[in-house]
Amino acid sequence: MTTALITGATAGIGAAFARRLAADGHNLVLVARDAERLREQATELHDRHGIEAEVLRADLSEDEGIGAVEDRLTDRRHPVDLLVNNAGFGNKGQYLEVPMADELKMLKVHCEAVLRLTSAAAAGMRERGRGGVVNVASVAAFVPRGTYGASKAWVVQFTQGAAKDMAGSGVRLMALCPGFVRTEFHQRAGMGTGSIPGWMWLDADKLVETALADLARGKSVSVPDPRYKALMGLVKVTPRGLLGGVTSKTGRKYGPQ
Ligand SMILES: NC(=O)c1ccc[n+]([C@@H]2O[C@H](COP(=O)([O-])OP(=O)(O)OC[C@H]3O[C@@H](n4cnc5c(N)ncnc54)[C@H](OP(=O)(O)O)[C@@H]3O)[C@@H](O)[C@H]2O)c1
Repeated sequence: MTTALITGATAGIGAAFARRLAADGHNLVLVARDAERLREQATELHDRHGIEAEVLRADLSEDEGIGAVEDRLTDRRHPVDLLVNNAGFGNKGQYLEVPMADELKMLKVHCEAVLRLTSAAAAGMRERGRGGVVNVASVAAFVPRGTYGASKAWVVQFTQGAAKDMAGSGVRLMALCPGFVRTEFHQRAGMGTGSIPGWMWLDADKLVETALADLARGKSVSVPDPRYKALMGLVKVTPRGLLGGVTSKTGRKYGPQ
């Protein structure tokens, strides 16, 4: 039986990964800050699918929390075969409206934690000649969207580079770039979503199914939906200046309430 470790496992996209991987018979290590929610989730997945679900309470905006997950990933007696770096959040407000402490927290969770956890997992995976890492980025990586977009652009670049360096090792690394997904994300950030058209919303379970298929195919970047694939194709040929204007307007529409 293989083991998958998922950060931000208790809600949204992370919970969808947990459901799908448990249904496929993987043991799980579930990581988030809310210990009670983690315990409930572990019990439910164990009872429903008969898998072992470990809980690891960790705040990935703190060194101690990142360190605890690194320790679990480097435990040679209980190897982790698949790492899903999914924990993340949005900040309310545009540039200079967001407190610096929150900007730095975002870089810690979206970039430093992803770098450290990927590296902790990938070293052992390379020794064993197999393993996978999914780093959850966003389509915001491809457009100018403040610190959020910049942090997700880092995730994409870092993952693609690492995937190239690890080619032939048996270890697959993939950046996952979803569009809007119905989760707790926008509510937690205090963002209004009323003006986002219905067709732009993705379902977390379908997203995960496509993501895992793309990982199996060996993709290093996954944009898991034809609508967003088409949009990102358009983004590639749109002049950067024009793109900045459009995404800034869109940001104001669905941005802080
Ligand atoms: N929803 C979207 O439209 C969308 C689109 C593109 C990309 N994404 C990305 O997808 C990922 C998951 O987002 P989601 O939409 O599923 O959000 P969500 O529903 O709000 O879930 C976030 C998860 O991350 C955990 N988390 C947050 N901060 C953490 C921290 N400091 N340490 C440890 N765990 C933490 C939360 O649990 P606790 O609060 O218990 O810690 C929760 O399990 C994020 O990286 C996000 O940027 C989301």
